[in-house]
Amino acid sequence: MKTLADLNSMKQAGQKIACLTAYDASFAQTADQAGVDMILVGDSLGVVVQGHDTTVPVTVEDVAYHCRCVGRAVHGAMIMADMPFMSCCSCEHAVKHAAYLLQTTKAKIVKCELAREQASIVRALSDCGIASCAHLGLQPQRVNKFGTYAAQVRQADIAMNLMKEAETLVAAGADMLLLECVPAELARRISESFPVVVVGIGAGAGCDGQILVMHDVLGLTQQPPVFSKNFLIGCDSVAEAFAAYVRAVKQEDFPDS
Ligand code: KIV
Repeated sequence: MKTLADLNSMKQAGQKIACLTAYDASFAQTADQAGVDMILVGDSLGVVVQGHDTTVPVTVEDVAYHCRCVGRAVHGAMIMADMPFMSCCSCEHAVKHAAYLLQTTKAKIVKCELAREQASIVRALSDCGIASCAHLGLQPQRVNKFGTYAAQVRQADIAMNLMKEAETLVAAGADMLLLECVPAELARRISESFPVVVVGIGAGAGCDGQILVMHDVLGLTQQPPVFSKNFLIGCDSVAEAFAAYVRAVKQEDFPDS
């Protein structure tokens, strides 16, 4: 299984990192065999697997269950476990839940939707030897605070503050950044400014890696986000579609700008 050090080496070597979400053994195995470098067991499972409107109802136990399913099938890709809503709202919560996910699944890193003011949480994880990825930009877990996802993306100050936010969280010990719906030029600057791997979703071609939700790649989403792409078109199987996605990321054909 790949490690954080492997992904950091890929960044240093200028090799693009292909990431995908998966939630069960069959799709995870197919993604792994297609050459995906990192599989995220995202709290998007609340929407695409459980049928909720948002990711808010997802629990740590839900993520742990799906992580175990994925872990049984994956041999090459690194697994990242999402920290669901309120699971990292304090240092104690974060360390307890992250430790649980890392000890009972094959995940090697946890992803948290955090703000700059919560840098102490990243520091607490780091102090305990827990690798973390800070999810910045559009943070779906905050949907009820903003009302809609679109309102969050429009907040100009989010873009303005993002560089500072990334700086603070990397200084606190974040080992990776995930940028969602961030202007491409800003995402490129962040990727070039920090030694950690920066994975983008709707954040342009300048990130070190790309991630998409598996269901969007397979054209299963009713209203897919504008930045996603249905890779099943022109392919005969899920395996081919995942391989086409990996190829497109590695050859810098996706995203196109
Ligand atoms: O939960 C998830 O799948 C995510 C992706 C959108 C990156 O956070």
